[in-house]
Amino acid sequence: MTISDLVSIHDLSREEVLEILDLAARIKRDPVAFQDALSRRTLAMIFEKPSLRTRVSFEAGMTQLGGHAICLGPSDISMGRRESVADIARTLSGMADGIMARTFSHQAIVDLAQHAAIPVINGLSDRSHPCQALADFLTIREALGRCEGIRLAYVGDGNNVTHSLMYAAARLGASVSVATPPGYAPDPDVVRQAREVAARFGATLAVGHNVDEAVAGADVIYTDTWASMGQEAEHDERVVVFRPYQVDASVMARAGKGALFMHCLPAHRGEEVTDDVFESKASVVFQQAANRLHAQKAVLALLLGGAGR
Ligand code: CP
Ligand code: NVA
Repeated sequence: MTISDLVSIHDLSREEVLEILDLAARIKRDPVAFQDALSRRTLAMIFEKPSLRTRVSFEAGMTQLGGHAICLGPSDISMGRRESVADIARTLSGMADGIMARTFSHQAIVDLAQHAAIPVINGLSDRSHPCQALADFLTIREALGRCEGIRLAYVGDGNNVTHSLMYAAARLGASVSVATPPGYAPDPDVVRQAREVAARFGATLAVGHNVDEAVAGADVIYTDTWASMGQEAEHDERVVVFRPYQVDASVMARAGKGALFMHCLPAHRGEEVTDDVFESKASVVFQQAANRLHAQKAVLALLLGGAGR
């Protein structure tokens, strides 16, 4: 592992993504073998937004690796208001062994990584959610036996989760088709970067507005909330715009035989996904959620414990 922070999947090579997935699978198979990997290490977790999966997977993950995590919520440190991001990074560098941060602005993660002397892990920003994409491809590999050559259709909002999925898929040789309402496409810079990498590994990345075209024959149908954290005021307007992009039984029927339904959670049934699809046999959403733990432990072991060195 040549990187010292996990800010974006775009900073990782194909080999590094595979190293994380392989270590996550080993940790999942034999957690006891890793119970002292981060003995007496401390992870500081900064949350500007709510979290269930990220908070619990990192905190439980640190405990299971022999270390400890401290949760710092918005009212604990008021990042950028009570104290600058740079000062927080330098203070934590003298007390903890790593920082995981969930922020509004992606720049805050970049700034933390720039000023900290300890590894910084992106636990979701407005631009990306790398830890989620790692758990997602761990899940896809478990369920389909491979990532290379599979076809993933993402339907809904072109957001942080979409960006990290596109980056990860490209490196793993998985093709992606994205269908969003006009005006809600993923960032064109991210699309261009991911498309360049995808081409190197024999995969494609298509971005458009047509759900039928995107999902036809896909191995995985993926969706996420229509209004991300911080966009709550747009919720009612978005529900109207996104209605044709709901993943329902007819969307799943147009996917390939045995296609998986995936969602990073939290889900809003009746909005981006219908209850029947969410609860169907195709849905692997709780396997995905559980894999956050194993993927996080691999990232922590590699960055804080030097497991890859
Ligand atoms: N998927 C995910 O990151 O969940 P939380 O927001 O609950 O952490
Ligand atoms: N796109 C969502 C993901 C939540 C895990 C958000 O940013 O709120």
